Amino acid sequence: MNSYQITDFCHEMVKSHIAPGDLCIDATMGNGNDTVFLCQSVGGDGKVLAFDIQRAALEHTREKLEKSLEYQNYELYLDSHEHMAEYASEGSVSCILFNLGYLPAGDHALSTRSDSTIKAMEAGLALLKKNGVMSVCIYSGGDSGFAERDAVLAWLKGLDHKKYLVLVTEYYNRPNHPPIPAFVVQM
Ligand SMILES: C[S@@+](CC[C@H](N)C(=O)[O-])C[C@H]1O[C@@H](n2cnc3c(N)ncnc32)[C@H](O)[C@@H]1O
Repeated sequence: MNSYQITDFCHEMVKSHIAPGDLCIDATMGNGNDTVFLCQSVGGDGKVLAFDIQRAALEHTREKLEKSLEYQNYELYLDSHEHMAEYASEGSVSCILFNLGYLPAGDHALSTRSDSTIKAMEAGLALLKKNGVMSVCIYSGGDSGFAERDAVLAWLKGLDHKKYLVLVTEYYNRPNHPPIPAFVVQM
């Protein structure tokens, strides 16, 4: 692994669950880095659905995708991720990425929120295929506060251990509320 930055670490952890031709979801498009990663991972025969509530996120992501890819294997939706089940069928998705928080250099008030994040993760679980994975980058402190972190961790803790493998990792020796990479695998 070249980088232990949270997003790179999450990409590394999910990539063995993704094959060319798969359907994947970027639940929080932002500036499109995760969308590009998923589009490259599934290749021209695959498909990526990406969601954000901010038009600026769609524009940044589209620009990045057009520069990075020679094929068009994505659909970008200006919609909240809690509606993702309207766009894909149950058991059809191999990877769903959540990168919580706010659009960098954007309006911090338009951050992800625990109520819609939990609804979206619930919806996402139903879409995952067997051995599919959901990755969640959780931030806390500062503008983010702790409410979303605590709600997401409580929700993860409550998942049925017979149906889901849940891994919550830590930057154990980093000060100041480091981000938390978490993973759910559909068994
Ligand atoms: C940390 S950024 C995501 C970074 C992004 N994945 C990337 O690679 O650049 C979080 C994004 O979540 C978006 N967001 C907030 N609430 C949302 C919701 N209910 N549904 C979808 N996206 C949401 C924000 O607008 C913001 O762009």
